[in-house]
Amino acid sequence: MTALSVSTSSAASLRADALVVGVAKGPKGIVLAPGAEAVNEAFEGKLAEVLSTLGATGAEGEAVKVHSPAGLKAALVLAVGIGEAGEEGYGLEALRRAAGVAARTLAGAKKAALALPAESAAEIEAVALGGLLGSYAFGTYKGNGNGKEPVGELVLLAARKGSKDAKAAVERAAALGEEMNRARDLVNTAPNDLNPKSFAAIAQAAGKEHGLKVEVLDEKALTKGGFGGLLGVGVGSTNPPRLVKVAYTHPKAKATLAFVGKGITYDSGGISLKPAGHNETMKCDMAGAAAVFAAVVAAKRLGLAVNVTAWLALAENMPSGSATRPGDVLRMYGGKTVEVLNTDAEGRLVLADAIVRAGEENPDVIVDVATLTGAMVLALGNRTFGVMANNDELRDDLHALAGEVGEQSWPMPLPADLRKGMTESTIADLANMGERMGGGLVAGLFLKEFVAEGIDWAHLDIAGPAFHEGAPFGYTPKGGTASAVRTLVRFAERTANGKA
Ligand code: BES
Ligand code: MN
Ligand code: ZN
Repeated sequence: MTALSVSTSSAASLRADALVVGVAKGPKGIVLAPGAEAVNEAFEGKLAEVLSTLGATGAEGEAVKVHSPAGLKAALVLAVGIGEAGEEGYGLEALRRAAGVAARTLAGAKKAALALPAESAAEIEAVALGGLLGSYAFGTYKGNGNGKEPVGELVLLAARKGSKDAKAAVERAAALGEEMNRARDLVNTAPNDLNPKSFAAIAQAAGKEHGLKVEVLDEKALTKGGFGGLLGVGVGSTNPPRLVKVAYTHPKAKATLAFVGKGITYDSGGISLKPAGHNETMKCDMAGAAAVFAAVVAAKRLGLAVNVTAWLALAENMPSGSATRPGDVLRMYGGKTVEVLNTDAEGRLVLADAIVRAGEENPDVIVDVATLTGAMVLALGNRTFGVMANNDELRDDLHALAGEVGEQSWPMPLPADLRKGMTESTIADLANMGERMGGGLVAGLFLKEFVAEGIDWAHLDIAGPAFHEGAPFGYTPKGGTASAVRTLVRFAERTANGKA
C-alpha cells in the first residue's frame, strides 16, 4: 500500500523521483495551479511556456512530463491537468482526479511529491484521497513483473502554517482511501476465492482488528431464523449464504444508521441463467456489501459520533438441481411470501431479509446499497447511481451529499402505479418481478415493502458505477470502484454532526 505523508519542505529541496504540479485551462492558455510556485522558479518562470510547448492544455486527465532543471532535487516534473477553474477555484473533485492521474502515471516510482493546491484542509484531503485511490493496484493474481508496482510513497507539500490541520486531513484521507481500496479488493477478488463464507471471515478479521462487533449467521442459523430470501437464493450453490452484522457504536451517538449491502458473491442468474456476455463481471454483485462494510470500518477509524450497523447479505446465485426454480414461493424473514418468477432478480430477495432484520433494531435510517438492476444502468449510464427513498428529503439529501464528495448520483421516483405488477395475479404476497419498464424503480418498490413502518429508508442502485470496465480515469481504475462508500461515510459524518 502506498504510504502518504505531509511535508513542509520546499518543492525544490525534497528528494523524490518526481514532482507533481497542476496546470489548468486559463482564459489565455494554460495557467499553473497554486503549489507550483517553487517549481516554476526553478524553470525561471517559464514552466507554463515549456509545458504549453510540450502540448499541455490543462485538460482533465492530461499528464505531461518534463525533465527537471538544475534547481530541483527531483529528476522529473509531472504536470497534471485540472481543467477549468471555477469562481471559487478548483473544485475538490477536480483535485482528487488530478492527484489520481498523477499517482497512476507514476506507478513504478518509489517516491513522488505532490505540489498541488493545498491551501485548505479540504484541498489537502482531496489531493491525499485522490492520490491514494489513484495508486490502487490489484495484484493478488499477477506474477512478478506482470504489471507495475504502485508508487511507493506520496508526499504532499503543504505550507507550514497549516501543517497540523494538514496532518489531520491526510489521516482522514488515509482512513477513507484505505477502506475504499479494501472494498475494491473485495470486488476484484475472483468469485472462486470470495464466497459468502470467506467474505464473512474477512469481516470477522477486520472487526477484530478495528474493534467492531461482528456477528455471522451461517446457513443453520439462517434456517432456524427463517431467512427464506437468503436461503432461497443460496440454495443452488455449494457455498451456503451468510448474514453478517458489523456494528460500530459511539458512546456519544444520538442516532443509529443501518447500512444494508447486497452481497451476491457471484450472480449467474440461477435457473434463469444469464447468457454469455452478461455474467463475466458478475463477481461485482457484492459491491454493495463491500461498500457498507468499508463504510462502517471507516466510520470507526474516523471516530464518528454515530452508531453504524452494516448488514452484509451474502449468497451465491447458482443454477443446480437444488436451486430455486422460477415458480417457487419463498417465505421471507418476517413472514411475507414471495413468488420467484425470475431467479435472476435475486438481489431484492437477500436484501428484503436483511432490511427486515435491520429494521428490528429500530435504526433512525436504513440505507441499502446494491448492484440491483440492469435497468438502472440503462437509465443513468455507467458512472451514476440512482437514489430512491420512502422520504423525499432523505433522497434529496443523499443525492446532495454524494455530490459533495464527488460521486455522481440522481434522484429516482418510486411511482405507486408500478407496484401493481408485483402484487397482482400471484399466489403469494408478492412476486419478485413486475413490469419490465422502469425495472430499477420496480426493484426499489419491492424493497420498500420490507421496510418497517416509521423508518426512513433509502436505496442506492449502484449497478452502473460499481465496476469500471473502460480505461482508467482520474482516480478510478479498472474493476471495483468502491462506489457509494464516500457518500455513506459523508452521511454518517453529517448525522454525527447533528442531523439525523
Ligand atoms: N446483478 C444484476 C444487476 C446488474 C446488471 C448488476 C448489470 C450490474 C450490472 C441483478 O441481479 C439482475 O440480474 N437483475 C435483473 C432483474 C430482472 C430479472 C428483473 C436485471 O436487471 O436484468
Ligand atoms: Mn441477478
Ligand atoms: Zn444480482
